[in-house]
Amino acid sequence: MTVAERRDVDRDRVRQVGEREIAEYRARTPRSAELHGRASRALPLGVASSFQTYDPYPLFMTDGRGSRIWDADGNEYIDFDMAFGVLAAGHSHPRLAEALQRRVANGTCYTFPVEDGIVLAEEIKRRFNVDLVRFSNSGTEATMDAIRVARGYTGREKILKFEGGYHGHHDDVLISIQPPRDVMGPDASPTSVPATAGMPRSRVAETIVAPFNQPDVVAAILEANRDEIAAIIVEPVQFNIGVVPPARGFLERLRELADEHGIVLIFDEVKTGVVIAYGGATEYFGVQPDLLCLAKSIGGGIPIGAFGGREAVMRSIEAVPERGPGVGIEHSTLAGGATRVAHLGTFNGNPLSMAAGVVTLTEILTPDVYPRLHALADRLAGGSQEVVDEFGLPAYAINVGPKGCVMFTPERVTSYRDFIGLDSELWEASFFYLVNRGVLLPPGPDDQWTLSVQHTEEEVDRHVAVFRDFALEIAG
Ligand SMILES: Cc1ncc(COP(=O)(O)O)c(C=O)c1O
Repeated sequence: MTVAERRDVDRDRVRQVGEREIAEYRARTPRSAELHGRASRALPLGVASSFQTYDPYPLFMTDGRGSRIWDADGNEYIDFDMAFGVLAAGHSHPRLAEALQRRVANGTCYTFPVEDGIVLAEEIKRRFNVDLVRFSNSGTEATMDAIRVARGYTGREKILKFEGGYHGHHDDVLISIQPPRDVMGPDASPTSVPATAGMPRSRVAETIVAPFNQPDVVAAILEANRDEIAAIIVEPVQFNIGVVPPARGFLERLRELADEHGIVLIFDEVKTGVVIAYGGATEYFGVQPDLLCLAKSIGGGIPIGAFGGREAVMRSIEAVPERGPGVGIEHSTLAGGATRVAHLGTFNGNPLSMAAGVVTLTEILTPDVYPRLHALADRLAGGSQEVVDEFGLPAYAINVGPKGCVMFTPERVTSYRDFIGLDSELWEASFFYLVNRGVLLPPGPDDQWTLSVQHTEEEVDRHVAVFRDFALEIAG
């Protein structure tokens, strides 16, 4: 079926189904409602991270095992959210659970280095073809630290990020995440729009925003800021506006442009790394960044972050080069006399996270699991696309490796501005319809499902079958 043949859905029907399913959600989850009411008196929005809440209230969870998760009312779900993509290993993988029990019994924090930290760094080096690695505790810390290293290495202050890209919650990158249409500026020079109150103006000025998948615009922006940009940070697949893959040649062109301008190219592989391939997006797309950032799935469910990259760049943690790459900037002047980049953290490399990383990467997410993960994901995306075609839904299914979603818009999304047209009402009706039938997806149209090594074909088929029932009600 062509795009032109897809019909819009009956809006009244979508609204009716959405309202009915939200009422059903409330009826099935009274304990979560009660806990959220109580939580709201102790935590702003009733949650620990604002990403965790949604209307009418989030599910409170009690147990997770394998591919399943249970809420506080005892409802069981096949978990396709997998903690925003943290759990490529699945919940509490038996090998991980056993190793962590041993570790917990023997101390979880020393602030002295442990051998597992070397093993994990060596494994990351192998997978991603990087020279040196450092650990942190989250994706936010990983991108924050990588950007500082890039600034120290180049002696420059500005960075370039892509509109719609999310790289964590520090000031440098909490800009133009999903900017409103009326303030986002022209296509060829997007405005840097803070995504939070409390953002200093000076920080906004240092972060330049470019449209994803438009290499000529990126080239023009770099030219206009010649010798000023330290880093280009890019999530190789934009996984925070659904699933938006790079256009053919886009990452290669970024590599060329970074080289041409002496800029550090940073791949944010917090979601892609060790998930879409053994060696993440770096392997999948065959483009080598100067630095890459990891978190989420590398810890199997335990908090962790890491960044690594080229020797010359990473050694800035020991001593910054005396001059920037080819631009003759005196680093010591910029850094107020500091001769190296600070990379610090009490919990960095703690024994619990290191043990989790070693087991997850060397015993669970081994090279042999990826073909099966890809086949399973193709089955889910393929099955979802058949449903879309059968009912002519204004949508399409897409995946990159074991991460995918149904994008509720008929036209392919290639960058953030296409994503704004997404049918959030239709998405919401589908979310609650699936949740009420035991299929849990991430609670936002900007996220996607993640399959783990513990999911089965039967579970994928159940997901497709429930989605078909939904489509039948909406457009049958
Ligand atoms: C691409 C990307 N980078 C960075 C982050 C930040 O990671 P964290 O939430 O662990 O700080 C996220 C989180 O969702 C992410 O998706």
